[in-house]
Amino acid sequence: MDSLIINGGASLKGQVKVSGAKNAILPIMAASILSSSQVVLSGVPDLEDIKVMSEALTVLGAKIKRERDSLIIDSRHIRSCEIPEEISRKMRASNLVMGALLARFGSAKVAYPGGCAIGSRPIDLHLKGFNNLGYRVWEKGGFMIGDGRPKNGREILLDFPSVGATENLIMAASTVPGTTIIRNAAREPEIIDLQNFLNRMGAKIKGAGLDSIRVDGVSSFGGINHVVIPDRIEAGTFMVAAAITRGDVFIENVAKEHIQPLVYKLREIGVEIMLSSTGIRVMGSKCFRPADFKTMPYPGFPTDMQPQTMALLSTIEGTSIVVETIFENRYMHVPELRRMGADIKIEGRVAIIKGQETLEGACVEASDLRAGAALILAGLFAKGRTEITSVRHIDRGYENIHLKLNSLGADIQRRQ
Ligand code: EPZ
Repeated sequence: MDSLIINGGASLKGQVKVSGAKNAILPIMAASILSSSQVVLSGVPDLEDIKVMSEALTVLGAKIKRERDSLIIDSRHIRSCEIPEEISRKMRASNLVMGALLARFGSAKVAYPGGCAIGSRPIDLHLKGFNNLGYRVWEKGGFMIGDGRPKNGREILLDFPSVGATENLIMAASTVPGTTIIRNAAREPEIIDLQNFLNRMGAKIKGAGLDSIRVDGVSSFGGINHVVIPDRIEAGTFMVAAAITRGDVFIENVAKEHIQPLVYKLREIGVEIMLSSTGIRVMGSKCFRPADFKTMPYPGFPTDMQPQTMALLSTIEGTSIVVETIFENRYMHVPELRRMGADIKIEGRVAIIKGQETLEGACVEASDLRAGAALILAGLFAKGRTEITSVRHIDRGYENIHLKLNSLGADIQRRQ
């Protein structure tokens, strides 16, 4: 089991480039099932979650090849509609293939995705949506099973703007004759990228990024080349890395409109941020102020940046209040930050942070992807040596993050 050894204290300086967005690539890989040709995705980092999605598509019969940062996916010869448990358990997002399988084959059988550290991660909204669309879906022996060929589009209302449910329903509706309207849809940028990908393949979808999405069913999809959007959460993680080390970092390949909620919050804290046509410059300073925030569906403050921002607030004198409204258990990083000397109290969904002038290096464990990122950031700030175990969680969403941070002056070793 690999671990990261961080000797903290360096102020990060220099330039770093953001990779393609994991949470755009995963639904787009699922959507490639619809293509009767070959799709080429560019800007695809080599991440564990992308390897698992590739495994899922390969089990279905697709052919996948990686050429540097491109994935070539040929779904023409898909024969199976079943994703076994050993794959579904590895990654929740594997359930995203269900909508595309229903749309193309009128049949799908996907083992229940595992929950994870941050919450139970139910999929009731996906199943209810498929039902409302006119597919038959039921659960049996740990599998979600679906079939049917809806005759016409319908109007669906999501109880909660779930990102995955919105993506799954867009794909499931893409071949249903007539018009489907998805109301109370999630508005994340990754859904806009999915819409653009599908429309370039021949779909007729409008409204992604708003809370109401219209899908006019079509009968076939071609092949395309697609460059995925930059990863706004990786960008945000590097922004906080520059701030927490009081450094000066230029971050390239950033879609500035996607990181607005974080820019506003970091500026409120006192981080200097300069947006330019080629990227974003982030400078830490000595006079940071505490700040409060609440995670919300996009365009609110992203839950995927909550642990990293909490790490920063732990180093700023004064009291900050954080409220996590999206996931019921997304404070697994708190006990680990406490081991480094952070003063954080949890009351239900609320975290009360009393910032400290210093943190001490310690041996800590990553419980999930973004909690692991938060521990790296705290280790960059802390005095002395921090060892982070269970690095596999971090590998799910960050490609060689220690190499990217070392190129900015950090001192991080990866140890088997
Ligand atoms: C996506 O997960 C992202 N993952 C998550 O990123 C992100 O945190 C989340 O959206 C919220 O922005 C991918 O895109 C692969 P949701 P998803 O459905 O789709 C509840 C990361 O770190 N819910 O919007 O699973 C659910 O339990 C990951 O990159 C139901 O109750 O999120 C949660 O409390 C972590 N029933 C809330 O909604 C459902 O059927 C938001 O979930 C579906 C969701």
